[in-house]
Amino acid sequence: MTDFNYDTIKSDLNRDEILSRMQDTLSDYRYTHCLRVEKVCRGLAAEYDGDVARAGLAGLLHDYAKERSDQEFIDVIKNNDLDPKLLNYNNAVWHGIVGAEIIKDELGIYDEDVLNAVRRHTVGSTNMTQVDKCVFVGDFIEPERDFPGINEARNYAKKSLDSAVAFELKHSLQHLVSKNREIYPETFISYNYWITKGDL
Ligand SMILES: [Fe+2]
Ligand SMILES: [Fe+2]
Repeated sequence: MTDFNYDTIKSDLNRDEILSRMQDTLSDYRYTHCLRVEKVCRGLAAEYDGDVARAGLAGLLHDYAKERSDQEFIDVIKNNDLDPKLLNYNNAVWHGIVGAEIIKDELGIYDEDVLNAVRRHTVGSTNMTQVDKCVFVGDFIEPERDFPGINEARNYAKKSLDSAVAFELKHSLQHLVSKNREIYPETFISYNYWITKGDL
């Protein structure tokens, strides 16, 4: 892969510097997942004539904060005046929405298109841009993913990003319900919106 040029993206660091920070703060397991998601996101963006650089960078960074402590997220929610309702949730929601604040603080990346894709990768949104969709789907179908429905998910990604987003939201809701897990309201809102847009 070539063209890791982030010149149009407001960032204090180049890719090599970002990779070195990620290696310092993430397990190998998570770091290599992020590299695979970056690659899939760049491929999806290229396939759908999108923003390859932003989709790739957002894919690379989507789980940047995933391994932080609950206390760190709680501190960031309070110190950055984020929605206090976020305190009712957990890492699954925090690492996207709150993780974007940590990325700004630690990496000096202020590109809102990239940050929004990180924020939205866990719960989706009715306002998903193409970059958001690439990350949402790329995280779900990266090559090491293996779960019942993965082939369907990959096929939908070839058909259209909207269909892949709709399938992922449906699959994730079904999974959360089956595990008796809490569901962030935005996930329902995203599902209701995208299920009418995708062609499942
Ligand atoms: Fe994630
Ligand atoms: Fe991920």
